[in-house]
Amino acid sequence: MKLIFLGPPGAGKGTLAAKAVEIVKVPHISTGNIFRAAIAAQSPLGLKVKSILDSGALVDDATTIDLVRERLAQADALQGYILDGFPRTIPQAEALAGFSGPDKVVNFDIPDTAVVKRLGGRRTCRQCGANFHVVFGPPKQENVCDHCGGELYTRDDDREEAIKKRLEVYREQTAPLIGYYRDKGLLADVDARPAVEAVLENFRKIL
Ligand code: AP5
Repeated sequence: MKLIFLGPPGAGKGTLAAKAVEIVKVPHISTGNIFRAAIAAQSPLGLKVKSILDSGALVDDATTIDLVRERLAQADALQGYILDGFPRTIPQAEALAGFSGPDKVVNFDIPDTAVVKRLGGRRTCRQCGANFHVVFGPPKQENVCDHCGGELYTRDDDREEAIKKRLEVYREQTAPLIGYYRDKGLLADVDARPAVEAVLENFRKIL
């Protein structure tokens, strides 16, 4: 099964993907997580993209497409994937269609007000990338990851100014993908407003 998780920043794509992999048994591939790991490792890719991520803008299509093409060629992704955060532009979607097009695109539907609350309280693990929320999904121990014991931090792009920018970028460059995939008969809408378990149930229904 090849799935794309589409939706605005903070819709819960990463949170749901971490649970959905248990159901669909394919790898969760997040371009945001790949970029953040490169930044943490101070690799050439990380040095190139750090200021772009911090500002809330998008990394250029060529870099991102090459990255995903290489990742999808790895053995674990040959049977399928959950792509979270890719594609984010029409050229990215067209490129993906050329090397491994999706079976279904799940569109996480949520208003901006909810997004701001979710991103404002998000805490992310430095080691494994797991997400928590100070109110909606706190870790068992403050600032410590339940899964690997890593330190939790607030992402640089979860500042108010960067959230605003990311929502603008989403509207201009990514939201057109909703119509693009609807026209191809691939889109399924999921109401992303309820609590995580209810969103997971909505996801099961559309599978
Ligand atoms: P990326 O990491 O993909 O960020 P994003 O799309 O903005 O998505 P987020 O990770 O912010 O949100 P999410 O929907 O996964 O929500 P989450 O599950 O964490 O990209 C970061 C940057 O990388 C981009 O800005 C860009 O610069 C670059 N980039 C990445 N891909 C690119 C591409 N294809 N092209 C170009 N550039 C690219 O949930 C958010 C919070 O809400 C958490 O705290 C969570 O605990 C909580 N929560 C989740 N679900 C619920 C729920 N149902 N109820 C209550 N709380 C919930």
